[in-house]
Amino acid sequence: MSKGKFVTAEETGFQRECMERVRAMTQGGTAFVDTYGCQQNEADSERMRGMLSEMGYTITDSNRSDVVVINTCAIREHAEQRVLGNIGYLTHTKRENPNQIIIVAGCMAGEKHIREQIKKSYRQVDALLDTTTFWRLPETILNILEGRNGEIRAESEPDSRIAEGMPVLRQFKHKAQVSIMYGCNNFCSYCIVPYVRGRERSRRSTDIIEEVRELVADGCKDIQLLGQNVNSYGLDSAEEMDFADLLGELGKLEGDFLLRFMTSHPKDCTKKLLDTMASSPRIARHLHLPVQCGSDRILQAMNRRYTVAKYLSLIDYAREKMPDIVLTSDIIVGFPGETEEDFRGTLELIKKVEFDSLFTFIFSPRVGTPAASMPDPATKEEKSERFERLVNLQNEISARKHREYIGKKFRALIDGESRGGEMNLTARTNGGRLINFAGDKSLIGSFADMEITGATTWSLYGKLIK
Ligand code: SAH
Ligand code: SF4
Ligand code: F3S
Repeated sequence: MSKGKFVTAEETGFQRECMERVRAMTQGGTAFVDTYGCQQNEADSERMRGMLSEMGYTITDSNRSDVVVINTCAIREHAEQRVLGNIGYLTHTKRENPNQIIIVAGCMAGEKHIREQIKKSYRQVDALLDTTTFWRLPETILNILEGRNGEIRAESEPDSRIAEGMPVLRQFKHKAQVSIMYGCNNFCSYCIVPYVRGRERSRRSTDIIEEVRELVADGCKDIQLLGQNVNSYGLDSAEEMDFADLLGELGKLEGDFLLRFMTSHPKDCTKKLLDTMASSPRIARHLHLPVQCGSDRILQAMNRRYTVAKYLSLIDYAREKMPDIVLTSDIIVGFPGETEEDFRGTLELIKKVEFDSLFTFIFSPRVGTPAASMPDPATKEEKSERFERLVNLQNEISARKHREYIGKKFRALIDGESRGGEMNLTARTNGGRLINFAGDKSLIGSFADMEITGATTWSLYGKLIK
């Protein structure tokens, strides 16, 4: 049965009814949504907090809450181990409070072998909700409260639709994340995301524009558009505009705010997108463009569908149009079959591009992905040694780039408190670089002119210009 692309108004209406019924049953309850993954995972958590709050729960950050939702990440083994350890710990909290409701949500809940493992060995868990079904959280909780099985997805097919109009409880007023699309079609050979998040589906541009308009009207200053591959926004729908046009439209909205986006896939990153960025002062001069590695042979085995030369030409074009653009990327070290020569290609590429910063990972085999069964002769030690060389090289580059900021002036968004010390606040430059500085808390959420006074490998120090 084909269900269409959007969850129907009747179905979301039913979830609202469930929220009302739960609210009537659980006065004074508490709920905790624990987040383990990427920005999309974080954005999903804000939606779940929104639903829980409508159900009458007070949102806390305690494992001892009446409802605990673990919003999991499956990207690497380390992430999964951390989650399983914490779910294990919840046997204690459930013993203290036998009515505690424990729900495992997020990307791990979309993996068949993990679902089976949790059902078998983690009996304290009341239900699993994958990323395609979490809009049914109210129904799940109502079922559990009324003594029924909370499980929504007994069948193996995920529900790949979009649910609009459900509540959201955002963590901040001055910065927000807006998912513009869900899922991924790319099947990079190492990656679990397409299996757990389903096929690409784009929200209606009218819904996105309305959401961003409301955020800006409400004082939001920094809006990050989210998707696994924002460059393929709209391609799943004949009527929809493409990502560059969507960004262009959003950039025309009235107000003082900045738009960011992630992630861009190099194979779909167009000159049109870079031109759109260059033409609008509202679009942040930051491009996160994951390259993964600097060897064409490995890129092909990864199923990335671009070459090093194509990648470098995109970087050249971006810098030609926006000389001040901040460039960041992701790298995987130790993909199956990566040789010393392949790895040197990665180091070469990094020296050529000089990224402002990098997210670096050692390849982690994921059950069910093609790369997990590719021959992988390199030892753990070789991989760690490569990883260290990569990090050292990037640290040198980042430190040098950060030193170049000293003495320069920037308009930055004061966005939060730092972890202590004299420099009690943090701000972000247009390109997303972090500035630590001293100032009054009441400034959080406003733009200010700042001068950079110092730098480390990871961040900048600055002061307000009076
Ligand atoms: N959609 C984004 C990436 C999302 S995952 C994109 O295509 O750019 C974030 C990063 O995690 C990836 O860019 C990749 O560098 C890393 N990653 C994904 N799967 C991995 C695996 N199996 N092992 C190690 N790193 C992985
Ligand atoms: Fe994973 Fe590739 Fe999709 Fe990114 S584009 S989420 S790396 S499959
Ligand atoms: Fe993790 Fe899922 Fe994001 S696997 S990185 S939470 S898309």
